[in-house]
Amino acid sequence: MGLKLLVVGSGGREHTISQKLLNSPKVEQVYCAPGNAGMKLDGIEVVAITEDDHRGLISFAQKNNIDLTFIGPEDPLINGIVDDFEAAGLKVFGPKKAAALIEGSKDFAKELMVKYQIPTADHQTFHEYGPAIAYVKEKGAPIVIKADGLAAGKGVVVAETLEEATLALKDMLQDNKFGVSGAKVVVEEFLAGEEFSLLAFVRGTEVYPMVIAQDHKRAYEDDRGPNTGGMGAYSPVPQISEELVQEALVKIVIPAAEGLVAEGRSFTGVLYAGLIATASGPKVIEFNARFGDPETQVVLQRLESDLAMIIDDLLNDRVPSIEWQQSGYSLGVVVAANGYPGNYKKGTVLPDFQFIDKEQFHVYFAGVAEKQEHLVTNGGRVYLVEASGETLQAAQKKVYQVLDQLNTEGTFYRSDIGFKGIRS
Ligand code: AMP
Ligand code: GLY
Repeated sequence: MGLKLLVVGSGGREHTISQKLLNSPKVEQVYCAPGNAGMKLDGIEVVAITEDDHRGLISFAQKNNIDLTFIGPEDPLINGIVDDFEAAGLKVFGPKKAAALIEGSKDFAKELMVKYQIPTADHQTFHEYGPAIAYVKEKGAPIVIKADGLAAGKGVVVAETLEEATLALKDMLQDNKFGVSGAKVVVEEFLAGEEFSLLAFVRGTEVYPMVIAQDHKRAYEDDRGPNTGGMGAYSPVPQISEELVQEALVKIVIPAAEGLVAEGRSFTGVLYAGLIATASGPKVIEFNARFGDPETQVVLQRLESDLAMIIDDLLNDRVPSIEWQQSGYSLGVVVAANGYPGNYKKGTVLPDFQFIDKEQFHVYFAGVAEKQEHLVTNGGRVYLVEASGETLQAAQKKVYQVLDQLNTEGTFYRSDIGFKGIRS
């Protein structure tokens, strides 16, 4: 009898993780809760339990003899779902509440970085508008304003001018536009340079890096428009050298893992470092306590080893065998509902994906639902199309050739995913 696994979450990231786990010869069945209707096309079993229903998920895992649960998104991690599963005697992969704070509080993450000398942007935390505005005026623009808690990627304002910075501070500290998340604000130095994501499997002080990726946070071409959850990604990132990645590992990811252990907050799971390659080396813009979305859709593509076995080894304190593709590129483009990241309509019928060659392309679903046997849009980011190629250009061309053939009415996508890598 093969293993039965449960993945918690509902996006393209969880679709990718579930599919990768299902590819393991040791795995018999993968459930995803709450999942989405699109995942069913790949044989993933969708379970209607929401990610905040820890008790419901635990009881599902117990009744169905789930061997291991993988937690995808940050909210349940920050709310202690791993602690709850462990208390119920269940095997689960992800950081406990105390360790997930590295994502849950930007203020805590900054304190950790200062204490363990991890390079990051200079910053200061504020609760009140007056001192915050004084600091911003002293530092000048460009400057970055961040709501302390979780705001689904939208609590960050990269202010080009003092007016923009003032407006952001007003929104967060005076008008409470971000609720509790905005009651505390981190103001930080603007870092200039290429952005990249370095993820690693972590177990205490053991750190196993993944291949790097680059996300595209802005909604529109040429990195214009508002910040989103991410509009596309590719891996590897040719303009970031292997030396720089090593430097980031040694100066950032390993000290973060060791620092968390030293603080009594040992981290097990996927640690995500969002980095900027500045003129004075890599610096942290954020830590996440989980896989990134859409980075996962391109990073896991390049994993040659068995993901289920890697996790099993980590949880049992064995050294996992982790092999990555040594050549080639993976690139993924997000298709989002018109209006995202602002208000958008739900219920637009998705195109037919049947013609797409499943050997060469992957379609990972996110904000989709089922209506009269059709998939319809049900969220901001709807799906992602991924392809691999020997060069970044080749991978990009393949993805856009498929997108050109799809009826993307009611949705939009960026036509320049990968441009920085290609330009380099
Ligand atoms: P975050 O939610 O912290 O990842 O921020 C969202 C995006 O804002 C990042 O992906 C960056 O593109 C940008 N950003 C955040 N912090 C900085 C910074 N200190 N300097 C420059 N850009 C930043
Ligand atoms: N793609 C950015 C994130 O997952 O936070």
